[in-house]
Amino acid sequence: MIMDQASRLRELMNEIEYRPSEPPKPTMNARVIAVASGKGGVGKSNFSINLAIQMRKLGKRVVIIDADFGLANVEILLGVAPKHTVADVINGNIDMESALTIGPMGCMFLSGGSGMSALTELTDNQILRLTNGFLLLDNLADFIIIDTRAGLSNAVINFIQAASDTIVVTTPDPTAIADAYALIKSIKKSMPDIGVLKLVVNCSVNDAEAQEVFEKLNGVSARFLGVKLIFLGCIPFDAYLVRAVRKQKPVSIQYPFAESANRYSQICAGLLDMDTGKKNNVQNFILKLIGRFSA
Ligand SMILES: Nc1ncnc2c1ncn2[C@@H]1O[C@H](COP(=O)(O)OP(=O)(O)OP(=O)(O)O)[C@@H](O)[C@H]1O
Ligand SMILES: [Mg+2]
Repeated sequence: MIMDQASRLRELMNEIEYRPSEPPKPTMNARVIAVASGKGGVGKSNFSINLAIQMRKLGKRVVIIDADFGLANVEILLGVAPKHTVADVINGNIDMESALTIGPMGCMFLSGGSGMSALTELTDNQILRLTNGFLLLDNLADFIIIDTRAGLSNAVINFIQAASDTIVVTTPDPTAIADAYALIKSIKKSMPDIGVLKLVVNCSVNDAEAQEVFEKLNGVSARFLGVKLIFLGCIPFDAYLVRAVRKQKPVSIQYPFAESANRYSQICAGLLDMDTGKKNNVQNFILKLIGRFSA
């Protein structure tokens, strides 16, 4: 049944009208990064927006997708009010380019709104609009950063399946570490082939504490789940970051000299140096995003 649906969708997608000026693009050029956590409030949204700003500083074209429907934190942290959401694209009101909001430093932003919660219930026409939208987005961006909702929902797993990289964020709190492990376990359950995930430790007292968190989590993940973690780095608890949040400005712009900004910059550089190796074609990307990928 699911197989039939998937192959029918693939056929439908083959009928997508490409813009005459553009050759068909089977492979996504943009690197799609999903930022996830088991526990809420560990710093995902701040990580997403500051990673985006650091990428902009290196001249990369970035779109952040706020997939944390309902809470819409990205727009608050960026200090921008989006006029449209992805639901407008799905419903055919506007095209993807018009749905984007330009944030600080030219960082582009797509509000998920309620659209991101309804991805598994789309009609064929809505799926085509979404696919066309992502074809356009793929032309506009080098990186697409998806700020997901905390926890183990199917929607989050779909974003992770569609992404080229997944970054798990945790703090040193034992509850956050336990919930990060639960998330990794649930990712492995739905993606048995996954061998590596990336980890960022936020709000650590010092580097040694963050390293300990990494070793603990990597130890159990490797041993019990066969998933190796790549440690991207840590961000200390930083009063400048708290002040920047209150001003609704990314700390990387408001206080570029702050230690947190410095660490976001290092993590960004490290990430850009790593080859992801995994790139989707747009059809598979969308099928994964809407939870109908069956291969
Ligand atoms: N490195 C840090 N130093 C100091 N405070 C921090 C740091 N990272 C996050 N915070 C604080 O934690 C709050 C929550 O951060 P953020 O919104 O990025 O988390 P989140 O994981 O996206 O939360 P949610 O799960 O609710 O979406 C921030 O408003 C900020 O006050
Ligand atoms: Mg958030």
